[in-house]
Amino acid sequence: KMSEITLPVHMFIIATNETEEGGWIPDSRIDEQMQILNDDFANALITWELLNVTRIIHQEWFEGVNDNKLDAQMKKQLRVGEADVLNIYTVELSRKIFGYATLPEDYDDDPTGDGVVMNYRTFPGASLKSFNEGRTLTHEVGHWCGLYHTFSEEGDDEGCDGDGDFVDDTPPQLIATRGCVPQDSCADHPGQDPLTNFMDYSDDSCMQEFTPGQVERMRNELEAYREIEY
Ligand code: ARG
Ligand code: ZN
Ligand code: CA
Repeated sequence: KMSEITLPVHMFIIATNETEEGGWIPDSRIDEQMQILNDDFANALITWELLNVTRIIHQEWFEGVNDNKLDAQMKKQLRVGEADVLNIYTVELSRKIFGYATLPEDYDDDPTGDGVVMNYRTFPGASLKSFNEGRTLTHEVGHWCGLYHTFSEEGDDEGCDGDGDFVDDTPPQLIATRGCVPQDSCADHPGQDPLTNFMDYSDDSCMQEFTPGQVERMRNELEAYREIEY
């Protein structure tokens, strides 16, 4: 039987001024976002506990953190805790980049670089149409817990017969789902593409699940690389 675990979260709101367009996400949206994250991880028996929100005005980080150097500089100054502490940074990013995350296995190589960087427009009720229901954070935290995309990555020439996401109960998938349009990109393999999966690329409104296999992988990865004990 799976045991419940609670993991600490620190959030850094990077903004260019104290307006919402400037990145100053209101507390109410942060609360809503944490509620969604916790609902989405309920079947993994993982609770995310927001310990602290730090607000920082820093135009260079807000606008430029997608650049490797600024990303490293910001995290080096701000990151708290060890492998089991989720650090979330909200910044501007481009309209096409919703967020990015490090994987558990990368922690030892670069502990200070560990964490999730979020486009502030993806928080619930914010301005990024179709991607403002809070599912980007769920997706990124899925990566942070060791999940890959359900579809084959670019350059993965094994296609439908490859290892895919290293999870048994997600169907083989060649191409990311867009919008909420059902497809079957590995038509000669069983199963439609997993439109409703948090680790596909569909709109927030259709995302609703991690499979039991994904839950198992996340919990194993957390144990192997993030010193979580059950
Ligand atoms: N493109 C981003 C990534 O690969 C996140 C996509 C999130 N999708 C969503 N519907 N919120 O990490
Ligand atoms: Zn992703
Ligand atoms: Ca199929």
